[in-house]
Amino acid sequence: MNEILNHTETGVMTITINRPERKNALTCAMYGAMADALTQAGSDGNVRVVVLRGSESAFSAGNDIGDFLDARDATSVARFINGAATCPKPLIAAVCGPAVGIGTTILAHFELVYAGDNALFSTPFVDLGLCPEAGSSLLLPQIMGYHRAAAALLAGEPLTAAAAWQAGLVNRVAPVADVHDLALAQARKLAAKPLGALLETKRLMKAGQSALLAQQIAQESASFTRLLGEPAAREALTAFKEKRKPDFSKL
Ligand code: COA
Repeated sequence: MNEILNHTETGVMTITINRPERKNALTCAMYGAMADALTQAGSDGNVRVVVLRGSESAFSAGNDIGDFLDARDATSVARFINGAATCPKPLIAAVCGPAVGIGTTILAHFELVYAGDNALFSTPFVDLGLCPEAGSSLLLPQIMGYHRAAAALLAGEPLTAAAAWQAGLVNRVAPVADVHDLALAQARKLAAKPLGALLETKRLMKAGQSALLAQQIAQESASFTRLLGEPAAREALTAFKEKRKPDFSKL
């Protein structure tokens, strides 16, 4: 089964995460396929806007825990993160169900985010012995305010769709059955606008801190890789696999 679907119609590329049996957890191959799609979107004149979606029951359970425990191919993850951070075309997300880890942090790079009323955004990096990635330690405090970002990133407190809307992470909350159509309709609206003005406006909105963001992403990535090899992360990830509570008492 193709776990990343990619379809372009009337100027809109729709990337669909399609691994339902694992709640759309992302493997290295899936990061690679999404990175390729974003690269294509950037250069393909037929693509004006990109929509990223999961299913009605899950956006993404974040990084595949099995891949974390084996050697994670940091290159494909980095390609995906940088692809989202630098994509010249507007990015729109439709989020239903859980959006864990990178399922939430990647949204900070998107222009428009639509959430189903069953969406739950969580960033449990510290509980996994890890740290934020995808530039989220810079972008989430900017988007949500420092204290709300601290509750999400340090305490690992999830945000419901309504809370994410209040925090400014989400543009609109809609019934689950409507969210994917809503995102597509908005994408088509943007795709019908003058392309030069659309792209220049996005470029200007991002230009002010692109160097700082690249630096932060690189710094996070180095810390993430280091922490991934440390005992706390090994314990947390093994506990998830073994369906038990982690025990950090001896660490
Ligand atoms: N990596 C690998 N497998 C995952 C996964 C992940 N990130 N998330 C879920 N799965 C697997 C589960 O182990 C389960 O497998 P099983 O059927 O063999 O038991 C299956 O997907 C369904 O998940 P389940 O936990 O039963 O679904 P749920 O609806 O009760 O909960 C989540 C969904 C996403 C809230 C929960 O699975 C979860 O917390 N996942 C881990 C998220 C995470 O920590 N990601 C890393 C962030 S950095």
